[in-house]
Amino acid sequence: MEIRKVGVVGCGLMGSGIAQVAATAGFPVTVLEVEQRFLDKGFDAINKSLDKLSERPPDKGGITQSQKDQIVSRLTGTTRLAEVADCDIVIEAIIENPTAKKQMYAALDQTVNKQAIFASNTSSISITELMTATGRPERFIGLHFFNPVPLMKLVEVVRTIATSDEIQETAYAFGKKLGKVPVRTSDKTGFIVNRLLVPYLLDAIRAYEEGVGSIEDIDSAMKLGCGYPMGPFTLLDFVGLDTTYYITHVMHDEFKERRFASPALLKRLVLAGWYGRKSGKGFYDYSDPNNPKVNKL
Ligand code: CAA
Repeated sequence: MEIRKVGVVGCGLMGSGIAQVAATAGFPVTVLEVEQRFLDKGFDAINKSLDKLSERPPDKGGITQSQKDQIVSRLTGTTRLAEVADCDIVIEAIIENPTAKKQMYAALDQTVNKQAIFASNTSSISITELMTATGRPERFIGLHFFNPVPLMKLVEVVRTIATSDEIQETAYAFGKKLGKVPVRTSDKTGFIVNRLLVPYLLDAIRAYEEGVGSIEDIDSAMKLGCGYPMGPFTLLDFVGLDTTYYITHVMHDEFKERRFASPALLKRLVLAGWYGRKSGKGFYDYSDPNNPKVNKL
């Protein structure tokens, strides 16, 4: 099956990034949001991201001003669901809430071309559960991108027991066309990356709670000792502590293992509204974004 037109539902951090990479790959993209102001915010983020890319060399994903103009011209924002009806693939990246997602899929299923593929960017909700809101189980798949989408090369292609081989392969080829490296995985909570990443991040918090090292030292140790681009606390603040806390609940509910359970400190930070970079405070304080300082915890 050929994908000619892409729909993206949700224009937040992930949705705007997915729309950007699809438009960069040459696809006409329609982005659906509930309100114009969310589209404005997402398109503003795309503009900033493209500006940053225009400062990079071509071999590091750099683009010229005329390429930027072409990418932007392929993007359309809408608040009308009917405008994604003729898309060949619709990628949903709305709030991580199963009820909200299922309502969205049920509405999309009524309107969108019956041959279209439905994909979810969820990081932890069961793809199988979301699939049940539609009448197209064999054409339903997970496409899990990583933050920041324009820079991170991976996309997880997540099949359920009902996904057809053809749709899995079409989604895999589509991931490649987006300039990503796709990996195949199955609908087990956390897929590949979060299955391994989440226990690591939670263990870093537990190590800190047990006095193994300071936040800065644990970050430096993992960055310099393992060659990771960010230490675990910097990455936790980057991903969002509320997001991580939510993922721990879904994973712990699925596996009932301590390694997926939230440490007390993560819960306290989330209760206090310290969500990381997005709220200006988490394990670090971002009052000066170029020079984050560790918070006393
Ligand atoms: N578009 C969007 N964001 C961009 C960008 C672009 N073109 N270029 C840079 N950035 C962002 C970074 O996020 C960061 O944001 P601010 O400017 O707002 O502070 C900043 O730009 C850093 O810029 P740098 O020039 O220092 O970027 P870099 O080339 O050194 O690399 C990075 C930054 C790619 C994020 C790198 O640090 C990295 O790989 N970090 C690890 C990220 C990671 O592990 N992501 C996966 C998280 S897990 C996940 O997403 C899945 C899940 O389900 C939770």
